[in-house]
Amino acid sequence: MIADLIGRMTIEEKIGQLVQADLCCVTPDDLRKYKLGSILVGGNSGPEGNDLAPAPEWLETADEFYLASVDRSDGGVGIPMIWGIDAVHGHSNIIGATIFPHNIGLGAMRDAELIERIGAITAKEIRVTGQEWTFAPTVAVPQDFRWGRAYEGYSSDPELVASYVGAMVRGLQGSPSNDNLLAGPWVLASTKHFLADGGTDNGVDQGDSSISEEDLRDIHGLPYGPAIAEGVSTVMVSFSSWQGVKMTGNHSLVTGVLKDRMDFGGFVVSDWNAHGQVAGCTNEVCPQALMAGVDMYMAPDTWKPIYADLLARAQAGTIPMARIDEAVARILRVKARLGLFTAPKPSERPYSGRYDLLGAPEHRTVAREAVRKSLVLLKNEGVLPLAPGQRLLIAGDGADDIARQSGGWTLSWQGTGIDNSHFPGATSIGTGLKQAVEAGGGSAVISPDGSFTDRPDAAVVVFGETPYAEFQGDREALVLDPELTAPYETMRKLHAQGIPVVAVMITGRPLYVNPALNAADAFVVAWLPGSEGGGVADVLVGDAAGKPRFDFAGKLPAAWPRTTLLSEGTLFPFGYGLDYTAPATGWTALPELDTGNLAGDSRLWFNAGAPAARWSLMIEGTGSDAGTRITTVPADALGGRVRVTAENFKVQEGARRFTIAGGTASVQLGNFEGVDIDRETNADVMLLVTLRSWAAPQRARIGAIGPNGSGYAALDLAAGSDYVRYGIPLKCLRNKGADVTNLNRPFVLETEGAADYAIAEVRLGSDAERVVPCT
Ligand code: BGC
Ligand code: BGC
Repeated sequence: MIADLIGRMTIEEKIGQLVQADLCCVTPDDLRKYKLGSILVGGNSGPEGNDLAPAPEWLETADEFYLASVDRSDGGVGIPMIWGIDAVHGHSNIIGATIFPHNIGLGAMRDAELIERIGAITAKEIRVTGQEWTFAPTVAVPQDFRWGRAYEGYSSDPELVASYVGAMVRGLQGSPSNDNLLAGPWVLASTKHFLADGGTDNGVDQGDSSISEEDLRDIHGLPYGPAIAEGVSTVMVSFSSWQGVKMTGNHSLVTGVLKDRMDFGGFVVSDWNAHGQVAGCTNEVCPQALMAGVDMYMAPDTWKPIYADLLARAQAGTIPMARIDEAVARILRVKARLGLFTAPKPSERPYSGRYDLLGAPEHRTVAREAVRKSLVLLKNEGVLPLAPGQRLLIAGDGADDIARQSGGWTLSWQGTGIDNSHFPGATSIGTGLKQAVEAGGGSAVISPDGSFTDRPDAAVVVFGETPYAEFQGDREALVLDPELTAPYETMRKLHAQGIPVVAVMITGRPLYVNPALNAADAFVVAWLPGSEGGGVADVLVGDAAGKPRFDFAGKLPAAWPRTTLLSEGTLFPFGYGLDYTAPATGWTALPELDTGNLAGDSRLWFNAGAPAARWSLMIEGTGSDAGTRITTVPADALGGRVRVTAENFKVQEGARRFTIAGGTASVQLGNFEGVDIDRETNADVMLLVTLRSWAAPQRARIGAIGPNGSGYAALDLAAGSDYVRYGIPLKCLRNKGADVTNLNRPFVLETEGAADYAIAEVRLGSDAERVVPCT
């Protein structure tokens, strides 16, 4: 059947199958014309440009694209397209879906059977909204948790990861012999990112892994064996490199190892414009990826030039038709196994439109079980379980924040810009505790800053990381960002008043948190539990007789560091985790380090009134004006034309105010090494600037300056009573001429005429309040 189909396809139809476009940048009419094999939604895309679109709109969109792809009115073969989505912890782009713990928490459970049930529920919820393909499971084996995507992997231990993969693939796709996925509650899976995404040097996202071939095989390759044995349909290639060669262009690994030696029979998809990073390629032109073994290009916004170039080469015969036919055959085989050629349009398939299944009670019950089993107890000096009949204080900035406990890849790409209102039916950790205590006849108040009127009998302090995904989560040290450590003080205060304190940490990774481990009487790692925060209370709050209702089952999926670098020693080894049978042993205070001078998030360029380490704040004028480097305030610059003072923002003197008498004045952040933000530009990251203006200048523009090209976007700096987080797409600055691979003044705010404004923060990110139009 496949051979017959290929025999009837035109060259254009074949090339179309090899290309995948993002919903941001493609229409049903494009599909009708170009016959693309697939569409995807990246983390920030959604129907009609709305990544928070309600579930029915996703299904309608699925129908529109499907129908366009099978339109045979022009005499074409009309191969149905498939829609890929990052359903990486439940159907996590959809409001109301069940959000499971991120993989790192699942790794703590050591329960492959539960993994399969999670996969099955995820598949069923995906089917409700009409997608056929999830870019999961991530089978990374993170070796350095400074990597911001480490939480997407189950564990640092290859055996543990390998023991889960088959179960997850089976849950998503059904058994390996299942050859009509769309007839039942199943979707295509994709193991990613091949190979050694979790093995980059220093944990740099999309970086280079210089490990040996043995480690490549035994650590990072291990999970691909069970995935292939379970019939995984697709494999996504990693952005990263091995020994200096980008995986997307590595023929010997993608074709030689994965397809030939490991006998992977599905198709290989590349990652988001990753082909553009292959030596000799651009985002628009890259036959090298196909020749290396990539069957489908994820070309979100570049599908048109990629298609045109591949087509021209196919017609000219400079890429062999045999390779094209092989790639097409792989894609069509997967589509056939899916049952796509006999299935009706998405909305008419089983489970479609069954919105009652999104976040269904029986699904949430399973997620809650996973939360329960993933909790790891690191310390318990006799305070857990909590008696239900008492007065409980629930403190900490993470106490009532479902977005935070869900982490990145939740509704939005970085998991930012959302709040409890976007999680109907979900339960925060604090609400779950309150419900459990109240059900037992006690009382509870949620008070993030730890203040109270009636003295509590015990306190739980929920703290930890805030959401991040690609790039944004990379750190140079395993330490909680300084602005997230206020709960340490809350723990100390409560403890000093004789109130037993239980610390609950929300985190994607093991971090140095010795101050919290010392201050609290009990310490529980909750990872990124997702929508069913009630699972925490199930284990922490005991029954009326004071006995545990559930014991702790979680064991560390990766070693916990003694200091801010794992290479300096382990505090708790891989596999560590106490339970209720463990006797209190007494606690020897751990050393507390001065972490204030550690370089934190390298994408935070200016905050709390100061530029990042090794950066400087400069004021430049035009012509003869001598520029000034600002170190302390108040200060004068440009011969008195500019006055720099401190303003309060979040913290005292948390912003810098620039009062400009007139003329051209340019406030700049300089980094003398030259900053390369090419990858972030590719990923649709923005330059985020938090500003308040008291008086609008005649003209203002924001830009980035480099020796090989600068670019600016006009900014409307209207006066306002609040700070606003403006977002300037890096792509805009690049389009305006900035060389994003080398910027020595990566941030510039230039005004013309009298101006008066303050800057609180400059960083890279995706959660703008106001996106600056790129005109
Ligand atoms: C990520 C993948 C993801 C894809 C689509 C990439 O940037 O690395 O994990 O599946 O985007 O969103
Ligand atoms: C998309 C993500 C993608 C990333 C690539 C973002 O703009 O929303 O899905 O993974 O770019 O790095």
